[in-house]
Amino acid sequence: MSRDLEVVILAAGLGTRMKSRTVKVLHRAAGRPLIDYVVDLASEMSDKPPVMVVGHQREAVQDHVGKRARYAVQEEQLGTGHAVLEAIDAIGREAKGKKILILSGDVPLTRAETLQRLVEEHERSGNALTLLTMRLDDPGLYGRIVRGNDGAVMKIVEAKDADATQKKIQEVNAGIYLFDGEHLSDNLRKLSTNNAQREYYLTDLIGMLRDSGNRVGAMIVDNPMEVRGVNSRAELATVEAEIQRRVIERLMRDGVTFRNPSTVVIDSTVSIGPDTVVYPFVTIEGTTRIGTGCVIEPGVHLQNVTVGNDVHLKSGTVAEDAIIEDEATIGPYAHLRPGTKLGKHVKVGNFVETKKAIFGEGAKASHLSYIGDAEVGADANIGAGTITCNYDGVNKHKTVLEDGVFIGSDTQLVAPVRVGRGAYVGAGSTITKDVPPEALALSRVPQKNIEGWAKKRKKK
Ligand code: UD1
Ligand code: CA
Repeated sequence: MSRDLEVVILAAGLGTRMKSRTVKVLHRAAGRPLIDYVVDLASEMSDKPPVMVVGHQREAVQDHVGKRARYAVQEEQLGTGHAVLEAIDAIGREAKGKKILILSGDVPLTRAETLQRLVEEHERSGNALTLLTMRLDDPGLYGRIVRGNDGAVMKIVEAKDADATQKKIQEVNAGIYLFDGEHLSDNLRKLSTNNAQREYYLTDLIGMLRDSGNRVGAMIVDNPMEVRGVNSRAELATVEAEIQRRVIERLMRDGVTFRNPSTVVIDSTVSIGPDTVVYPFVTIEGTTRIGTGCVIEPGVHLQNVTVGNDVHLKSGTVAEDAIIEDEATIGPYAHLRPGTKLGKHVKVGNFVETKKAIFGEGAKASHLSYIGDAEVGADANIGAGTITCNYDGVNKHKTVLEDGVFIGSDTQLVAPVRVGRGAYVGAGSTITKDVPPEALALSRVPQKNIEGWAKKRKKK
């Protein structure tokens, strides 16, 4: 963490190749917009919020990033040199005495340690500019690094401006730079657009710095993945896969078992406690927090779910905005919709749907039920095929089952309705009136047996 370091994040571009209504830096990877990863990185490098250069959909970007950054507006995207000039103008005179670290809003995988090494290399070598480069088998559209015999960087040639020999250079510009602020502002004002793209190239500063007797150096990153940018959906997928790989690697280091990690989809915002076992083909998203010693079976999909310790989520369980407390057993194929809160030792079995339902400790709904807008008391037992009829076509109504009630199979509870503590409801009942505590409620049609009926029918 350096005091004399200002971080600039370039994020004014639209990202045409994303073919999207959404500006590139707001596309999500592993649950967070790309820009969030870069803002986090900036905050690891400097105490001061970074200066973000915004242009396309700047309201949306600023709404999202908020006070985590300061802003410079680039009305027209005239090139990276022009973008940095806007940022330097926003920083003002102070910029002269500082080091300026330039990051791209669409390069989310760089590690703080790598940038720290860039800062050290910059200070050690006395460069006016030190940049990050990488070697690629296919250098593609990246700017080519032209080095002199002494290893110093002579210039960067953009792919579109490069001749055949330059195109073959495999060391390319990652787009991450550390400048001494001193010469930055004056030189940026001298840039021209005399190139294939008619843009102000930040990279043309290299020649200017060298002409005024300054040294420019470059540090090659060991792993090109760290400076991988997102320009297309394919690159977004590559970057997302790498973030997920890192998340799972960290979780495994912290004691979580993944039986087949490459099949698990996980957001970077998820936490999981030690000794939890995650089976293949599980998706865990949003603010989901899972405790210790849980088992998460195949096909489970969790979004913003809080899971306690020693919970067993069986195959195919889907849950959103729900809370599941310690030692509960859920599924297979349970659907916990928003507002579900299941207490300790609750059992929710196969093909049970819950919504805005609060289950007390030890309550059970083991098979084929819909429990919505309901309070279920501790140790209540809900039989197979029970339905809370919570909707009258206009309004939703509440069902309250007090502690220890027993609801027979195939019961309809027509809400609003309350079943008192310890009461029983006979199987097949339609309950439309409150049931007093300790009572038995029955509403089914009495059974009638006609002796010998079948024998007579066969004779006809
Ligand atoms: C730039 C480099 C190239 C390098 C590549 C790495 C220049 C001239 N070239 O390429 O050597 O290999 O990055 O990815 O700098 N941006 C603005 N305003 C602008 C233009 C760009 O804010 O006017 C932002 C973009 O939103 C993006 C970043 O700057 O976040 C890089 O822009 P991009 O167009 O992707 O870079 P190139 O010019 O292609
Ligand atoms: Ca460009």
